[in-house]
Amino acid sequence: MAFSIHQICRGFSSSAVRNVVIKHVTVIGSGQMGAGIAQTAASTGHSVALVDINDDILKKAIKGIEGNLKRVVKKKFADQPEAGEEFIQKVLQNVSTSTDAESVVQDTDIVVEAIVENLKIKQDLFGRLDKLAPARTIFASNTSGIPITDIASSSSRLDRFAGLHFFHPVTTMKLVEIIATSETSQETLDSIRNFSKILGKTPVSCKDEPGFIANRLILPLWLESMRLVERGHGSIEDIDTVMKLGFGHPMGPFELMDYVGTDTLKSIMDGLHAANPDLSVFNPCELLNKTVAEGKLGRKTGEGFYKYK
Ligand code: CAA
Ligand code: NAD
Repeated sequence: MAFSIHQICRGFSSSAVRNVVIKHVTVIGSGQMGAGIAQTAASTGHSVALVDINDDILKKAIKGIEGNLKRVVKKKFADQPEAGEEFIQKVLQNVSTSTDAESVVQDTDIVVEAIVENLKIKQDLFGRLDKLAPARTIFASNTSGIPITDIASSSSRLDRFAGLHFFHPVTTMKLVEIIATSETSQETLDSIRNFSKILGKTPVSCKDEPGFIANRLILPLWLESMRLVERGHGSIEDIDTVMKLGFGHPMGPFELMDYVGTDTLKSIMDGLHAANPDLSVFNPCELLNKTVAEGKLGRKTGEGFYKYK
């Protein structure tokens, strides 16, 4: 069996390389996931730079974070409105925004990437940032299912690259999947494990295979739900009701697919199918392809399997 230099080093000199204590966080992509990661990191005392491609998107993200914080404060500071307002201001002060990722990463402890689920675009981003971020900076991808090894190959910091997969809504869901490649150092894993615990999450370790653990479990359910509709076994509404009332799921599969985003879902499913052509469970699904082709991307666009106001 062949060992990489990093695997060998782990065994002999893990204490020789300092763990990175994460204080400054750069989140690239301010959509559903990026905004949630930024809010969670800022609420736990981190200084956060939130990056996206234009100022309008960033303004919308900050407005969303502010709305969520108001919701939190209403519950947690019900009897202390002033302390609640102070908390909101403190968290918002912890977040800065930028459209210039290259300059922001020049002084950051970790880059958490939460942009579109597309290998080439992610590789291009990390390839550019690799040249500018300090050597200590850890690179992490929030990809739903693209192998981290493939994304990391665009950078030269293979020992400082890992998967850090949060769940939507990030502020509420307690799980984070941590994915090491064969090159990820133990120090990097220790740093991101500590970081995720400080964020209030429970980390689990996953193999670097498409879909990791969570999406390999949930996608067959989502795909079968769509196939049941295609075959006329039941309506979208009834299938959602079955899962909520029969199994206690907080959302039915169609509600949840709309919540995640059907475009993101299609990218994950296409990746799983390409990686596992022999597993018919991941075969393409007509209903999903049609929904995405019609621009019905879920809650974020006002329509998916359902319509939203
Ligand atoms: N953003 C931030 N926080 C939110 C939120 C949002 N959009 N929606 C709800 N919350 C928070 C609320 O503030 C509240 O927090 P507290 O308990 O601290 O007060 C909590 O979530 C519960 O909210 P509500 O009581 O208003 O609503 P609810 O009870 O209907 O719960 C839900 C909402 C948490 C989203 C729940 O419906 C749920 O758990 N749904 C399933 C979510 C899920 O399965 N996520 C995983 C998706 S798959 C994925 O993420 C992986 C991938 O790669 C695709
Ligand atoms: P989203 O469409 O809500 O947001 C993506 C954001 O990235 C957009 O604001 C877009 O403008 C921005 N962006 C795209 N290219 C960029 C670039 N080169 N530089 C800076 N910003 C860029 O998507 P999302 O749902 O937040 O998903 C983001 C990532 O997180 C994907 O990899 C997805 O698979 C993963 N993920 C999604 C979920 C989910 O439930 N939606 C859950 C876990 C992980």
